[in-house]
Amino acid sequence: MAVNTRVPLIAGNWKMNLDHLQAIAFVQKLAWSLKDAGHDFTSTEVAVFPPFTDLRSVQTLVAADKLPLAYGGQDVSTQESGAYTGEISAAFLAALECQYVLIGHSERRTLHNETDEVVAAKVTAALKHNLVPIICVGETAADLELHGPSAVPVAQLKAALAGVDNAADIVVAYEPVWAIGSGQAATPDQAEQVAAALRTTLAEVLGQDVADKTRILYGGSVKGVNIAGFMKEPNVDGALVGGASLDITEFSSIVRFQKHVGL
Ligand code: PGA
Repeated sequence: MAVNTRVPLIAGNWKMNLDHLQAIAFVQKLAWSLKDAGHDFTSTEVAVFPPFTDLRSVQTLVAADKLPLAYGGQDVSTQESGAYTGEISAAFLAALECQYVLIGHSERRTLHNETDEVVAAKVTAALKHNLVPIICVGETAADLELHGPSAVPVAQLKAALAGVDNAADIVVAYEPVWAIGSGQAATPDQAEQVAAALRTTLAEVLGQDVADKTRILYGGSVKGVNIAGFMKEPNVDGALVGGASLDITEFSSIVRFQKHVGL
């Protein structure tokens, strides 16, 4: 088995929270608090996913203060440009120097009827503009009962990779729908089991090299108190954090998981 050289990624999905003024204050405080705590940004990467209307402000702040934080959009259009009212293109995100974009979050799949085909088209659009897609997959409680833990996430990942070639830089986020915002996280064992299945899928579809270098995040009720358990698992390379990413102390504690148990 290849040596794990994957740099952990802790990503904060703000969802529809914090306007652009709040975003500036928040990002500044987050960067300071992590720097004060001596966080080594090369050992664990940190990214935030603010609402679209905040991105220009975050870009300006990150560039002006040279903050070692990555950022990205919470969604992206399948389309390049044109008559698509309300949509945001991958080119627009790239122009704001976003490195990442979340794609196929369960709230998009459920509340906006995003199908696997739409998710795949968004992944293709992101890669075309050199954005790293964070492809979100996960089963509902009903899926879990019917199909077991990894069948649905694996099928969603296969579908999302339809237009991806083996040179692509991608991230996968496993987020069981029943764990999102519920306070009931998966166990580290459960997360590892699905992450391992997702890595096998990556190897089947894109080859072992891509599978070895691709980061797989766990998401769903991640907090400072449970992050270390997930990060000890060999196939879990970080976290996608919702609620706890809006609290600087809590998010910093997640980012600094290595300090919790001397990992
Ligand atoms: P949560 O959300 O951390 O609030 O459970 C995770 C997510 O939706 O990405």
